[in-house]
Amino acid sequence: MTKTIIRFGVIGCGLMGKEFASAAARWCHLTGVEYEPRITAVCDANPEATKWFRELVPSVTKAYSDYRELLADPDVDAVYCAVPHNLHADLYIDIIRSGKHLLGEKPFGIDREANRRIVAEMAARPDVLVRCSSEFPFFPGAYRIGQWVREGRFGKIIEVEAGFWHSSDLDPLKVINWKRRIATNGEYGCMGDLGMHVLHLPLRFGWRPNSVRALLQKVVETRPDGKGGSAPCETWDNAILACDVKTEDQRFPMVLSMKRIAPGHANTWFIRINGTELSAEYSTKNPKQIRSLPYQPGGEQAWHELDVPYHSAYPTITGGIFEFGFSDSILQMWSAFCDELVNRGGMKQPLYCATPEEAAESHELFTAALESDRTGQTVYIGGRDSLEAAGQSAG
Ligand SMILES: NC(=O)c1ccc[n+]([C@@H]2O[C@H](COP(=O)([O-])OP(=O)(O)OC[C@H]3O[C@@H](n4cnc5c(N)ncnc54)[C@H](O)[C@@H]3O)[C@@H](O)[C@H]2O)c1
Repeated sequence: MTKTIIRFGVIGCGLMGKEFASAAARWCHLTGVEYEPRITAVCDANPEATKWFRELVPSVTKAYSDYRELLADPDVDAVYCAVPHNLHADLYIDIIRSGKHLLGEKPFGIDREANRRIVAEMAARPDVLVRCSSEFPFFPGAYRIGQWVREGRFGKIIEVEAGFWHSSDLDPLKVINWKRRIATNGEYGCMGDLGMHVLHLPLRFGWRPNSVRALLQKVVETRPDGKGGSAPCETWDNAILACDVKTEDQRFPMVLSMKRIAPGHANTWFIRINGTELSAEYSTKNPKQIRSLPYQPGGEQAWHELDVPYHSAYPTITGGIFEFGFSDSILQMWSAFCDELVNRGGMKQPLYCATPEEAAESHELFTAALESDRTGQTVYIGGRDSLEAAGQSAG
């Protein structure tokens, strides 16, 4: 099979930049795809950070410290960008202007204003594919729940709960980093870090929050600064968002939670959907297991537990009995990005990467959540139309 080679540049050579390079290195894991990413150039403001790539990724022939040089490089077709949130707007806008396709990290702008600037820039370059990184829906258990929603198997939705929980910040001795500072991570705190992961599937299913009542929490006030002193933790650790979802034909509650301090949870992403004809839940805590309860009127109510096979969105060499993990989900997501880049509307499977429009919806929710926590009130999203849709008085 002749493969289309997509020449990638990676901007931001930290934690996630390396994950992406590692996924490219094992592209042979995928079977039957006619495209392949090749990382030709990398860029990091700290030249030391590019060393790992220069030494271990043979396709990398250029390392830059100024991203503008990478954007001027004719040997780069597309960019994966993983930098702190305060840089998203300026870098993403310049990437889009350069005509290179962009897979950018969430939250796609440090705040709603930054996100709107990015989305506005896209209008001038409809030829450029722009997507937002969010890999958990590619876990086979989550993917299967998506299939069930598309097939309309849940009946009337009773309620939805989704979350993403971490716990390493329970340790007050963990040294502070940019993710705990408003200037670099943003006012959203844990919502900006974890929220797009939580919202990706609900938004894809068309379950937009109409209103939100938010409870935001700061648990650890200060941390070691790594230089012998201590520094204030400025951002929200945990967020619980009680949302009212209204679709064309349904209305139901949806509780979303994003927690940096959920004791015992290393990287737990989950979704639970209760419906009148089917209930189902999937959590990366037990990555193989999917639980479901099909129901018919008058019938028994019994939960079924299935070790879901390794049937990923894009077929691989891995046998069905084996486990799927975080790095597999990155590989699958990147395949979806390349598939869409090469085949556009004719993708091999239906789950495309999170869109900038979905990221924009997440910003509307997080901005409303900040207001809700500040005022202690329910905040309607989208103004008067939402109030009327909810059957509430605007006065
Ligand atoms: N999808 C996921 O599961 C996931 C997980 C973690 C982080 N993220 C996201 O990835 C992004 C980066 O997070 P990370 O954990 O990789 O951070 P990181 O701190 O490990 O890496 C960020 C890198 O960006 C570099 N950088 C800073 N300014 C730069 C500039 N002007 N030009 C080029 N490089 C610059 C830094 O030197 C650093 O090496 C964030 O948006 C974060 O929310 C996503």
